[in-house]
Amino acid sequence: MDNLTELRKHIEQLREQINYHNMRYYSLDSPEISDSEYDALMVELIRLETEHPELVSPDSPTQRVGVAPVDAFGTITHDIPMLSLGNVFDDAELHAWHKRVSGLLGTSDYTFVCEHKMDGLAVSLVYEDGQFVRGATRGNGLQGEDITQNLRTIRSIPLSLHGNIPQKFEVRGEVYIPRAGFKKLNESRISEGQPLFANPRNAAAGSLRQLDPRITAQRPLNIYFYYGLGFTGIDVPSTHWDMLRYLKSLGFRVNPNNALVDTMNGVKAYYQLWLEKRETLDYDADGIVIKINQFSLQQQLGSVGREPRWAIAYKFPATQATTRLLDIGINVGRTGSLNPYAVLEPVMVGGVRVKSAALHNEEDIQRKDIRIGDTVIVQRAGEVIPEIVAPVTSKRTGKEKVFVMPKVCPVCGSEVLKLEGEAMVRCTGVACPAQALELLKHFVSRGAMDIRGLGESLSRSLFEAGLVRNVADLYFLTEEKLERIDGLAEKSIANLLSAIEKSKQQPLARILFAIGIRHVGEETAEVLASHFGSIDRLAAATAEELQEIPSIGPKIAQSIIFFFRQEDNKKVIDKLREANLKLSSDDNIATRELPLSGQEFVITGKLNSFPRHMAEARLRALGASTGSSVTKKTTSLVVGADPGSKLDKARSLGVTIIEEHELLKLLEKYEK
Ligand code: IVH
Repeated sequence: MDNLTELRKHIEQLREQINYHNMRYYSLDSPEISDSEYDALMVELIRLETEHPELVSPDSPTQRVGVAPVDAFGTITHDIPMLSLGNVFDDAELHAWHKRVSGLLGTSDYTFVCEHKMDGLAVSLVYEDGQFVRGATRGNGLQGEDITQNLRTIRSIPLSLHGNIPQKFEVRGEVYIPRAGFKKLNESRISEGQPLFANPRNAAAGSLRQLDPRITAQRPLNIYFYYGLGFTGIDVPSTHWDMLRYLKSLGFRVNPNNALVDTMNGVKAYYQLWLEKRETLDYDADGIVIKINQFSLQQQLGSVGREPRWAIAYKFPATQATTRLLDIGINVGRTGSLNPYAVLEPVMVGGVRVKSAALHNEEDIQRKDIRIGDTVIVQRAGEVIPEIVAPVTSKRTGKEKVFVMPKVCPVCGSEVLKLEGEAMVRCTGVACPAQALELLKHFVSRGAMDIRGLGESLSRSLFEAGLVRNVADLYFLTEEKLERIDGLAEKSIANLLSAIEKSKQQPLARILFAIGIRHVGEETAEVLASHFGSIDRLAAATAEELQEIPSIGPKIAQSIIFFFRQEDNKKVIDKLREANLKLSSDDNIATRELPLSGQEFVITGKLNSFPRHMAEARLRALGASTGSSVTKKTTSLVVGADPGSKLDKARSLGVTIIEEHELLKLLEKYEK
């Protein structure tokens, strides 16, 4: 044998090996070798084919990347027409089909194969002498488009078959894009500024009908085969079920969810099962297909027009519909987030009348380029809130309006604020009725004003009776007013009023935390209180002044500035003042220099003499600030037992390191 013959043989062997492992991996989902072993085979084949281009063959596994584009698809006439399916929509129609079939056959002694009705694209593939030679779309059922080169790029389609194979035959199946792949594909289309695919089916169709197979090769297409026909040179099975098993043995990907069913009850159970579970599948199924199993009976039944009598589709209720987006409304959530929602021209989706849909946030609307007045695709999957998938841009008239988020809260008129890194726009009003209940709950909670006896249901009653509209109203409640609330005993009224009265003694830090400035937690509130000493001074601070404090960054600073800019918030604070709350510290800490002012302490490891938060509180009382991570602003790191990585960080930044006993000495020295 000469060298070239040797080489040809070697290449052939490599291809066979790769094809075999392709089948194990893509069609059977049970690989026998690791990805890296597979890659090594592939690399070797690519190297040999690059060195000897004359030895490249169309069925080589290297050809999956797609060949050069064509100007138009050729036409292929199907040897046997590709039929469509009749539909039924409920059990009564299903039974009518069964009765008709049994009547025609003169028996009901037959079995069924139940399959998912995949929402993809029907294709036909012809194999001759074990080679994939031709593939086509369904087209009008008689003639389709020649998409052979595109189909070659789908990894789960075997390009050549081995063993005892028919001389010629045709297989049919459904090409689809898995849901996860669809999501990714649409995300990349957004970033490339291309229109979105409405659903995986459209994406599969668009990908398969690409004139450039290299584009098809990059799309996550897959296929399930559900039909084999026109076999020559071999005996074939006599039932559809055995045919599916045979196709699988040849290396074709067959849906593992298919089922052989004996009775109509079994068929209905299969339908019910997948109606409920269809959201768990990685592809869209729009129903089930019921096929009579015995080929001899199929033949007896034949077809009417384009529809076989021996098979029927039992459709699931549709999950998508198109309608018009009349407007975009805003809901203010309990925590002040402004949530846009779609106002739709009512439409039936999956058996339910839908007139509004979720729109998530402003960015989502922009990303999908949804405009008011658009015709949109609405989706309702399972029990979840309907959502807008995409606009139908081809239906645009030019009169559609781009949505802009309001600058003020539609409920209370306070300014809205969108903080960096957050998708949500939020209302900054402490008196906003949409948030009132949530804010009141926070205001009275233990870490805040600590007003006992004011639970959620009483809070709700106070709102509904109009006695409390914002947190400051609490301090103007009287016995007479509270008597108006049903079921509130005298004793409870007295307790509540005394708890409210007692809360007037809470220090400034508690108030700053309680009034619900976004991103101002307990610690920040303490830092602010000790730094500014009064709410008025805090309200007057500029962003720069705020950011001079070690633990305050731009996000918190902005949030504070916005809060104190709102007229409603100023009114609430004035009312709190009127009620004699302590809006400034008794002795003004900010003006009196404290021993540890300007220093920032961070603690790492376990302390022996007291819990970490106690140590921090004592440090703060002496004017220091405390942080949770070591930064350039840190002045000292306190090291307990088993210190963490903070110690290394502190060393590298040259931060002073002190031990627990030194901390104790320091505290004792200044705490008199
Ligand atoms: S069998 C005569 N099986 O449904 C049998 N079709 O409305 C015809 N389809 O064009 C095909 N899943 O695109 C069959 N498991 C399945 C199917 C299925 C989806 C599609 C196929 C066909 C259409 C007919």
